Amino acid sequence: MTVDLALKNAKILLNGKIVKAGIAVEKGKIVKIAKDTNLPAASKEIDVKGFAILPGIIDTHVHLRDQELTYKEDFITGTSAAANGGVTTVFDMPNNKPVTMDVHTLRERINLAAKKAIVNVGFYSAFPNDVKEIPGIIQEGAIGFKLYMSEKIGGLDPDCDEALTEAFTETQKTNVPVCVHAEDRRLLESVRTEMERKKDNDVEAYLKVHSPDAELKAIDRAVKIARKSRAKIHFCHVSTAEGLQSIKFAKQARFPVTCEATPHHLLLSFESLKNLGAVGLTNPPLRSEDDVRLLWAGLQKGTIDILASDHAPHSLNDKKKPEIWQVASGIAGLETMLPLMLTQVNKGLLSLPRLVHLTSKRPAEIFKIRKRGEIKEECSADLVVVDLKKEWKIDSSKFYSKAKFSPFDGWKVKGKPVKTFVNGSQVMDNGEIVASPEQGHIIR
Ligand code: DOR
Ligand code: ZN
Ligand code: ZN
Repeated sequence: MTVDLALKNAKILLNGKIVKAGIAVEKGKIVKIAKDTNLPAASKEIDVKGFAILPGIIDTHVHLRDQELTYKEDFITGTSAAANGGVTTVFDMPNNKPVTMDVHTLRERINLAAKKAIVNVGFYSAFPNDVKEIPGIIQEGAIGFKLYMSEKIGGLDPDCDEALTEAFTETQKTNVPVCVHAEDRRLLESVRTEMERKKDNDVEAYLKVHSPDAELKAIDRAVKIARKSRAKIHFCHVSTAEGLQSIKFAKQARFPVTCEATPHHLLLSFESLKNLGAVGLTNPPLRSEDDVRLLWAGLQKGTIDILASDHAPHSLNDKKKPEIWQVASGIAGLETMLPLMLTQVNKGLLSLPRLVHLTSKRPAEIFKIRKRGEIKEECSADLVVVDLKKEWKIDSSKFYSKAKFSPFDGWKVKGKPVKTFVNGSQVMDNGEIVASPEQGHIIR
C-alpha cells in the first residue's frame, strides 16, 4: 500500500512519553504511527528533522469577524493566523455583524467560511428570539450556544433568569454546551453610570466597572440556572480567583460545568495594563497578581479544563478612542498562544502532556468533536510540528491576523510551531501559509 503522506524523523507524544516515530497519512486521516522503518511507502515524505509532532490545537474561542466586520478580520486572515499559530480547528463566536443567532445567519456564515477557511471551523450561535428555534440551529451545524451575560447579543435578555432557564432547558435536550461570557450586565451598568457621573474614565474606572464581583455574580447565576435545567455549561475566559473557586464548588457538586483560561489572563496582570493601554484592554480585564497565581494553580491541577485564545481582533482605529468606554476591547491571540505556552513548558511551569491535553484532547471531549484532537490511528491528521528549543521574539507586525498589535509584542519566547497540517494537508511551513482556501472543514 502506498499512502498519501509520511512524516518521518519525528518525536511524538504517545501515552505521556516522547518517542521517536513517524506518522503515515491517507485521505486526511492518520493510518499508522510507527518507527520510520515500519511506515508504509508514501507518495510524499517529509523529514521533520527530529522535531516534535503534537495534535493541532483546537481553539474553542475565536472571533473570526468577516461579513460586515472584514476590516477587523476575515475568514482567510483569521484562519491563516490560526495555521501560523499551530491551531488546526477554531470555533467562531457569534457577536458578528449580522449576529449569528438563527438558521439563516448561521447558514450564511458557514457558506462563506467554507470557501475561505484553511483550518477547520465550527460555529457558535447566540440564542435566537424564540427558544423553539434552538434544535434547528443545532441541526444546521452550530457546535454550541454562546451567552453574553454582559450585554444583549442575540434574542435573549441576559438579565432575565426565567428566559435563561427556558433557553438552557431547551439546549440541554440537544446536548450541546452553553458557553458563557460571565460578567453581570446590570452590575456593569450600575457601576459605569456612577463612573460616568463622576467623569472617571481612566483604566482604574474601567477596572471598577469590570470588577471581579461582576464575574462572580454572573458565574453564580449561570450555575444556578444550569443546575435547574441540567444544561452543560462552559465558562469562557475565567479571570478571577473567586470565579474559579465558585466553578470548583460546582464541579465538586458534580454539575456539568467546564471552563477555560486564556494566555493573557495567565501571563499578564492589571499592572501591565497601565503601560499597555488600549492594546491590553479586554473583557474580562487583566486581573491582580493573586488572581494570576490562582489561575495557574487551576491550570496545573485541573479545575481549568482548557486553554483558549479568545482571539478578538480589532483595527487600530477602533482601539484608538479618546474615551475608554469607546475603546474596542480584545486581544488577537491565535499566533501567540502556542509559543507563549511552550515557553511555560520550557520554564517547567506546565508539562508538555498537560499542555497538549488542555489544547486538543479536552476541547474535543467537551464539544464532542469525534476523531480529532489526538494523534491516533483513524483520527484526522490535524498536526503541528514544533521546535521546542527555538528562541525567538514575538513580532506582531508579522501576524497574518489583520490586528497587527499585541500585548506580547517583543516578548522573548522559546518554542515555535514550524509546520501545520490540516486534514492531512500542509497549511503552514516555517511561518509561510502554503494552503489554498477551502482546505479547512466545517465542524458540525
Ligand atoms: O474583550 C472582548 N472582546 N470581550 C468580549 O467579550 C468580546 C470580544 C470581541 O468580540 O472583541
Ligand atoms: Zn467573552
Ligand atoms: Zn471572546
